[in-house]
Amino acid sequence: MTAVTARVPAKVNLQLTVGPVRPDGYHDLVTVFHAVSLYDEVTVTPAQRDSVTVTGEGAGEVPLDGSNLALRAAAALSEAAAPGKRRARGVAIRIRKRIPVAAGLAGGSANAAAALVACNELWRIGLSQPELAEIAAGLGADVTFALIGGTAVGLGRGEQVTPALVSGSYHWVLAFADGALSTPEVYAAADRLRTARDGRGAGTGGPRKPVDAAHEPDSALLAALRAGDPAAVGRNLSNDLQPAALGLRPGLRRALAAGREFGALGAIVSGSGPTCAYLARDAHHAREIAVALTGTGVCRSVARVLGPAPGAVIVPAGQRSPSRLPGGGTN
Ligand code: C5P
Repeated sequence: MTAVTARVPAKVNLQLTVGPVRPDGYHDLVTVFHAVSLYDEVTVTPAQRDSVTVTGEGAGEVPLDGSNLALRAAAALSEAAAPGKRRARGVAIRIRKRIPVAAGLAGGSANAAAALVACNELWRIGLSQPELAEIAAGLGADVTFALIGGTAVGLGRGEQVTPALVSGSYHWVLAFADGALSTPEVYAAADRLRTARDGRGAGTGGPRKPVDAAHEPDSALLAALRAGDPAAVGRNLSNDLQPAALGLRPGLRRALAAGREFGALGAIVSGSGPTCAYLARDAHHAREIAVALTGTGVCRSVARVLGPAPGAVIVPAGQRSPSRLPGGGTN
């Protein structure tokens, strides 16, 4: 086998409930992940040495050294397959990005998931999805979900993933912002807001219960997803990182307000931001929102996407994506 390509989706969080910081520096989460039809492609080919090249959206911002998540995924997979043994040959990893970097869409995690799936095939290792998920969990909080895709509840750091039942599909508009937001910085800002709020005591509702004491996804959101009710999904979107992201990037307030003005059923910062996600009634409404957001100049660019999208999959030879991917039209 000479080359294997895997395609992998971006995600938005329909619920992101963040608990206090843990001893390992991560936060306990209760989240509802939702994969959307904005895809990166990762191609792996045998080579003398390991290497990674990146083209497309935000390519210049992706590290090409050993910290690259796709390279780390390939190394972790070969170590899991043959512990302590050096691989006879390296792997050249080529990443074609459409998911912006550090945008709250888990693009780096997606690339790691795609590298796992592609190298598993290239090296004929034959690990099952649950076996790959175990390796994914050690690579980053969102890698497991990128493997599985669809819509799923995430617990722990986000790596304990259980698929959720969803009817129908949902039309989203993503608004990409200029520049990136650092996920650790957004979590740190959220911690500061939490400390300030809890310090104010009972008058503001008092200290919140740690998230791990509840471990419950939002039942109204899950019921809306099961029923295929976009209006109810829109009403029940939530993101604990949003106040922190808005504090760091006040301009996002205008972007969210603009989407609501154009009738979005829900408007939310995606993960740690700065991408904003807007839920539309249908495809036509999504186009209207996309055109309106573009016209108001509140964002760098927009994309119309569908969710839920499948997780990381091998692209059969000869079926590499055209520049416009299914359901993921940019406006
Ligand atoms: O796991 P990943 O490298 O994608 O996470 C990026 C950063 O986001 C972490 O280093 C951490 O600062 C923050 N994070 C967190 N709690 C989580 C997930 C991510 O604090 N559950």
